[in-house]
Amino acid sequence: MGINLEAFFEHTKNSALEQFHPQLRQALHQHYEQKTHGRSLEWDTALNAMPQLDKAPFTFTQDSVTISKPDDLQLDHSAYKQHLKAFMPWRKGPWNLLGVEIDTEWHSDWKWQRIACHISALEGRQVLDIGSGNGYFLYRMLGAGARLALGIDPTRIFLYQFHAAQRLLPPNGAHLLPLRSEHLPAFGSFDTVFCLGVLYHRRSPIDHIQELMSYLRPGGELVLETLVVPGDIDTIFVPPKRYAKMSNVWFLPSTQALENILHKLGLEDIRTVDVTQTTTQEQRATDWMTFHSLADFLDPSDPNLSAEGHPAPLRATIIANKPF
Ligand SMILES: C[S@@+](CC[C@H](N)C(=O)[O-])C[C@H]1O[C@@H](n2cnc3c(N)ncnc32)[C@H](O)[C@@H]1O
Repeated sequence: MGINLEAFFEHTKNSALEQFHPQLRQALHQHYEQKTHGRSLEWDTALNAMPQLDKAPFTFTQDSVTISKPDDLQLDHSAYKQHLKAFMPWRKGPWNLLGVEIDTEWHSDWKWQRIACHISALEGRQVLDIGSGNGYFLYRMLGAGARLALGIDPTRIFLYQFHAAQRLLPPNGAHLLPLRSEHLPAFGSFDTVFCLGVLYHRRSPIDHIQELMSYLRPGGELVLETLVVPGDIDTIFVPPKRYAKMSNVWFLPSTQALENILHKLGLEDIRTVDVTQTTTQEQRATDWMTFHSLADFLDPSDPNLSAEGHPAPLRATIIANKPF
């Protein structure tokens, strides 16, 4: 069955994005429609059992993305909660859907608070979120006034989590396409491109930053959040094996080294606006994500070290502009 992604194409008809529809449809065909997932049937069943609404009250401006139960909706709260649990693990949030509080692994609201005060106002902007996970930030971007918030993330379960929320809402500016950034055309038109928590997963980080630049319009803003290590302009750490038990971490620069790369790539007005060590309050196991979490990825005797003895996860947000 799968999820119908036509709303994105409808919304962007007659816009600058329409010229890219054939390429996006082709990528979706190849990387989404032609690939099945072992849990798709379970997820389709849970999704289709959920109410579909268009007049539920919602707010995207508070910590929790909240869509409230309309007074006239008869809802079996515990059955609805079980349907939502079919999409575990819930990593990014928090959410409150029809009165069910989803306490996600991450306090993504904390990340948003650290970032939102430094970026250009999103009012009326068209924004792209690469590695958007389940779309939590897409709604926060709409809450901040964005007119279109397009998320790109290949992980299928996150698409289902996003649609658990979308099906409660009237047509809106948030869309999630289950693709990888490598599948995207050089749009050249987004006002802001967010790339939060993805760069360290890329084997070719400089190529990835160039991809991100290609999505921006001249003068547009790049918001890059990634793991960094302490050090100077010459410090880039490539973990020899795992990092904080993750096997797919390739590139951990210092903030100075990352700023230097952005400068060399031609970005302007480069500034590191936040550096924060992740705490076990921000990332932890919950009832909605019951696997290991940060506490298990650190040295049990020193929270400033990863389990492998490397510096513990430290995240920086760097903002820069594409030249006109
Ligand atoms: C650590 S999570 C970060 C999620 C969210 N942006 C945040 O900051 O909380 C990384 C996400 O990037 C996605 N991802 C990994 N490689 C990607 C790629 N090449 N293009 C788009 N998304 C990618 C993963 O599926 C995952 O959801």
